[in-house]
Amino acid sequence: MFFTPRRLLTALLGAISPVAAFTNSIRNPGGSDPQIVYTDGYYYLMSTTWSNVQIARATTIEGLKTATRKTVYSSSEASRCCNVWAPETHYLGGAWYIYFSAGNANNLDGQNVHVLKGGATPWDDYTYVAQLTSEWSIDGTIVRFNGWGNYLATSCFHGVANQSICFQKLGDDNVSVTGSIGVISQPTNSWEQSGTPVNEGPAALYINGKTYVAYSANYCWTPDYCIATLEWDGTTDPLSASAWTKSDGCLFKGGVNGHYGTGHNAFFQSPDGSQTWNVYHATSNSAGACDDSRYTMVQLLNTNADGSLNFGTPVALNIDSAEPA
Ligand SMILES: *[C@@H]1O[C@H](CO)[C@@H](O)[C@H](O)[C@H]1NC(C)=O
Ligand SMILES: *[C@@H]1O[C@H](CO)[C@@H](O)[C@H](O)[C@H]1NC(C)=O
Repeated sequence: MFFTPRRLLTALLGAISPVAAFTNSIRNPGGSDPQIVYTDGYYYLMSTTWSNVQIARATTIEGLKTATRKTVYSSSEASRCCNVWAPETHYLGGAWYIYFSAGNANNLDGQNVHVLKGGATPWDDYTYVAQLTSEWSIDGTIVRFNGWGNYLATSCFHGVANQSICFQKLGDDNVSVTGSIGVISQPTNSWEQSGTPVNEGPAALYINGKTYVAYSANYCWTPDYCIATLEWDGTTDPLSASAWTKSDGCLFKGGVNGHYGTGHNAFFQSPDGSQTWNVYHATSNSAGACDDSRYTMVQLLNTNADGSLNFGTPVALNIDSAEPA
């Protein structure tokens, strides 16, 4: 091939151009309780304006910042019109479903988990199907267990004084729950009780052959809202609290780089599946925040040489991070 000076320059620049990078934050404001999935060439970011469920997609993390948001749910139905929180999309048996929390306009006493059914890609239209839970529940997510099947994890008060992490078996139709509710984690430690005792925002993590549920501890209107983990023993009934070992304190917390209340996360795999990424929200308010001012952050999850989890610390804003591999 004959290289003109211009072609040579282009080829050289191509060879030395930096790896594609993104900078945090990814969504600010409106970045609370984020979830990202990667499938078939796109990252999908779930969000809410408190009255709807929205989804945006882009081929890069950086691209999510400017991606058009599509509203896939809003309702005037009094029992699920309002306080729409924490939407997550999950692929189950050939279709994508969105699990989200919603309740009435007057107070937060009617919060429950609801489900929409979509199509073969997360970008297809969704139809409202049902309310899954029948007592106060928020932050629904799906966790799969080898040998046990799929479960709905929520934050609930099932027979306990304080907001806890609960499990119930997902029905075969993926739009119902069945059997008893198991309370697997209560905020019994002092490091889970800042503001008020809280365990919420469960998120499944499958890594190094282990199944974890990450969750957020403490009240969101404190800077202490942070991420801890529960590790499944791999065999015991997931509804049993004895199947779970809680981390010794939070593994990811704020007070670093101007971020506070770093929590309510989800995990997603990189395009080649080799990396696990942590998507979470943070606030710049040193008193914490529970509102729409929270922003979405994305960073790599690491593991230590012994296989244990290493969340690192919340990354600075506007620093280049390589796009997921
Ligand atoms: C629900 O999801 C499971 C996979 O997790 C699948 O086997 C099953 O067919 C799904 N049910 C329906 C009705 O699609
Ligand atoms: C529930 O929270 C209260 C404080 O609001 C605390 O005194 C109590 O010990 C907690 N219960 C459990 C089981 O952690």
